Amino acid sequence: MHGFRIMREMMGGNWIPVCDGVLLEEGGKGVRFPLVVGGERTTGFVVRYRGQVYAYLNRCAHVPVELDWNEGIFFESSGDYLACSTHGALYLPETGLCKLGPCRGRSLRPLRVREEAGQIFWQPDDYVTPAGA
Ligand code: FES
Repeated sequence: MHGFRIMREMMGGNWIPVCDGVLLEEGGKGVRFPLVVGGERTTGFVVRYRGQVYAYLNRCAHVPVELDWNEGIFFESSGDYLACSTHGALYLPETGLCKLGPCRGRSLRPLRVREEAGQIFWQPDDYVTPAGA
């Protein structure tokens, strides 16, 4: 974790390590990480799409449930949309906008994320804070 601390200091701000970048499959399996929203412990997730890394609060815009019934499965089979496993809402990976499903037109809550030196980091904001902080 010493290397992480140095990297965080170099990046400035409170960047929190999530995982190795190689764990994110292009249009495939993503990684959850713990966080707190409104005093409630929940999760965020990070995925890779067209080479870029995106992160969102793991909470459907329809009903506040986690998207991945099977942990880490955020994309539907084509690899072009993030999907909610409860009622099948489909979201654009780049923006989190729901294109199809009961919450069409609403969006996932984005989180700040970056990839540095092969590692994925996220940054808390006014609404989403680190677990254990
Ligand atoms: S809970 Fe996600 S689509 Fe209904």
